[in-house]
Amino acid sequence: MKTVKKILNRLFNNLSKEEKSILQALKKRPQAPYDFLTRYENILKNAIKWDDLDFNNKTVMELGCGPHLGFGPLAIYLGAKKFIAVDPTANRKIYDSKILLDKYFRLAFKDYKGIFRKQISFGVFFQELKNKTIFYNDTKSIPKDLYSSIDIQLSNSCLEHIQDLENVLIDLKKLMAPNGRYIHAIDFGNHMQTNNPFIEIYNSTPSKFKIKHGSKINLIPPSKMLNLFTKTGFNSPSLVPYYYFEENFELNIDKYWSNYLEESDYFLKVGIIAE
Ligand SMILES: C[S@@+](CC[C@H](N)C(=O)[O-])C[C@H]1O[C@@H](n2cnc3c(N)ncnc32)[C@H](O)[C@@H]1O
Repeated sequence: MKTVKKILNRLFNNLSKEEKSILQALKKRPQAPYDFLTRYENILKNAIKWDDLDFNNKTVMELGCGPHLGFGPLAIYLGAKKFIAVDPTANRKIYDSKILLDKYFRLAFKDYKGIFRKQISFGVFFQELKNKTIFYNDTKSIPKDLYSSIDIQLSNSCLEHIQDLENVLIDLKKLMAPNGRYIHAIDFGNHMQTNNPFIEIYNSTPSKFKIKHGSKINLIPPSKMLNLFTKTGFNSPSLVPYYYFEENFELNIDKYWSNYLEESDYFLKVGIIAE
């Protein structure tokens, strides 16, 4: 048993940074992006008036797509004409990896084909994905000729990590096509393994949190994040709560938060801002 583990470890240690990161992030579930997107669209349909996104012939952008390109492969399978991948960890090199071809892209393709039943081969799909993906490290590096061209903007667990969020939203708005639509899923919790995801947030202040845990998350609460969308020119964004997590919080809430939060902000763990 030990020998098998050793061999597996050795195999894993031989992988590149991107290969390791992708296989770890997806926990060997290439279906994860589809699961997220359908879950979010179902939540939106049950909460507000929401028509499913149609990727066909659309320019799609994902902010913080991660090295595995998040919703990109699915968008391309569903006919997107371009996928703009915006993430400092996303890298065209992943298309040259044999291990990712077999253990990620090919499996994701099998899943899409089983669900959507489009008659295209893996070879054609993969070539399209390669040809239609454009990589940027951040919104500032996206050239002006892409302004007003993005039909669909997506992000999953990214906005809460951006410190200068207002400026990034200004960029997102400039990039958005006139009738563009968007789904941003935000995890408002502490991103730590605690019994309640608001421990170390509500019983503290942002400056104390930063000193203790760094700036990994921006601690912008739900209603303020929604206000930022309106302030930066997004027409009528909706904030739809996915789920709240109040259990196991037995600490006093710091005055900073009781003065700052709206009633509906308290304990909202995951929210979706969409239009
Ligand atoms: C928690 S990960 C989520 C990754 C992916 N969306 C997923 O669901 O697996 C947050 C991602 O946001 C990216 N990110 C952070 N700040 C960013 C920024 N200003 N612009 C673009 N991406 C950013 C990080 O590199 C990281 O890949």
